[in-house]
This record gives sequence, C-alpha cells and structure tokens, in this order.
Amino acid sequence: MELVSPNFSDIMEANIEIKKFPDGDSYVLIPEISKLQGEEVSLFHRLYPAQDTEIFAAILLLDTLKRVGARTTLVSPYLPYSRQDKTFKEGEALSAQILCSLLANAGAQKLVTIDCHFLKKEGEFEYSGLKIKNISANKLLVEHARKKLGEELEVISPDQGANYLVEGFGGKSMKKERGEYKEGAEAYRAVEKVEMEFDVKGKNILIIDDMISTGGTMVRAVENVKKGGAKKVLCAATHGFFLKDSLEKLQKITDGVFTTNSIPNPVAEVDIMPLFKAVIREKP
Ligand code: R5P
Repeated sequence: MELVSPNFSDIMEANIEIKKFPDGDSYVLIPEISKLQGEEVSLFHRLYPAQDTEIFAAILLLDTLKRVGARTTLVSPYLPYSRQDKTFKEGEALSAQILCSLLANAGAQKLVTIDCHFLKKEGEFEYSGLKIKNISANKLLVEHARKKLGEELEVISPDQGANYLVEGFGGKSMKKERGEYKEGAEAYRAVEKVEMEFDVKGKNILIIDDMISTGGTMVRAVENVKKGGAKKVLCAATHGFFLKDSLEKLQKITDGVFTTNSIPNPVAEVDIMPLFKAVIREKP
C-alpha cells in the first residue's frame, strides 16, 4: 500500500491529510487506517522544505502506522540534517544521527532516499538504528546532460565528497576547503578554496554535486573550469535548494543548470520516480 503526503502531490496523488491547528501544531490523518493492520506500507513524504515541521509530521505518521501494526518504509528523496553527521566544534549536535534514530524509533522499518550526503555511495546501510536504502540520481543526471550537450562530455565533481557521483563516468574531482563559521546568527562556513588540478581545455563539462544550497561550491567550480578553457559548462545536482540568488548567478555563468525534483524548484528537470519504482515493491 502506498501512502502519499500532500507535500508529494506534484509527483503522486496525495491520500493522507496533513493540516495545522490554529496554534501551528501539526495534525495528521490516515484515512481507513484499520485496513493497514499488518500491511507493508510505503509512505511518500518529503522532509524538506520546512524540515523541522515535516520531520515532526513524519514522526506522527510513522507512529500512528506503528500503532496499527503496519510495517512502514519511509520514502523521502532528500534527508535534511545529513550534512551534520560530524561535529566541527565541541558542543555541537550530531543531528544526522539524532534524526535517523528518531525516525527508526517512530516506526520507520527503512528509509529510502536519494544521494544521502553522509553515505556517499549507493546501497543498503544501517545508521543510528535506521535501515537506509540510498539510491543515486547520477546516471539520470548524466543522461539528461548528454541530451543537452551530446555524448562528448566530461563529468566532474566540485569536491571529493561527491567523487562517488562521477567515478563511474571516469570523472575527476576538485578539492574544496571550508573556513570557520562566519559571525552572526547563521551557522555557515564559507567555501574558501575549490582547486582543480586537471585539464578541461576545449571540453564540454558537466559538474555534478549531491546538492546546490547557497551555490558557493558550484559557482567556484564553474569559475575554475571556465578559467581552464572549458567549451560549454552545465551544472547539475540531485537536490536543488538554490538559496538566495544562487540559481540566477549559476544561470548567468553556465550553459545550463538542472536538478532532480527531489526538492521542487524552477530547474527540477529530472524526475525521481523511476528511481523509486523498483523500491516500492521491495519489502523492508
Ligand atoms: C557538501 O560537501 C556538499 O556536497 C555540497 O557541495 C554543499 O553542501 C553545497 O553547498 P553550497 O551550495 O552552499 O556550497
């Protein structure tokens, strides 16, 4: 049985209710839940945007299903907090671990997700008590880029963390360094260096990352390949947040920018559903 949250309704028809009480508390309702007793359920629910609210809605849904004995696989294309799997300073929270153990305790038998930042490869994992199936969108992104620029395409990543996305295409990775946290209320470590030690002269280039957030990483990577004499440059990511004016900036300096629809955005050109289709029928 597939349960689809309203925040997935751009891809599938929603069949559960999520609303707000007047004070902002979340309200969830799974119609005819008694029919799900002992059933295998795939729950399609995005955990981003509005991550703190959507994570809590997921916890309410998972626990409600657990109470009728359903066995639920949570299908969430992007896992928020996945970049906080290590602490940088003493006293910081291990947010990725905390989130995974909350989802497991709430009743997720498994999480199916795409290009999870801390896993850095496809496959089946267990992380903080949560079983995770991580799928990569890299092949779909490369296929899409080839439709735009042809087969002669060099696929590279802007940092070593994203190397797993390009290695199957013979791709190389740049090296990235971030600095200290900047002053102020925002927890942000600026990108200080993105270095490229290979030749791109006269080549068509596709730069792939798992996500484009502020665009700081991708802008530096594009500047590198343009300085290196690349012919045409596309940039792509599995998850596109495009915070502030990063999409406009990237569109100005490249020959194209696109992502999957894991997070709705104006350049979400690659559909994630083919990645989930096989998984829906799998038992946790
Ligand atoms: C980090 O290591 C990720 O793979 C991305 O490179 C990063 O999160 C992108 O963030 P931003 O767009 O803010 O540079």
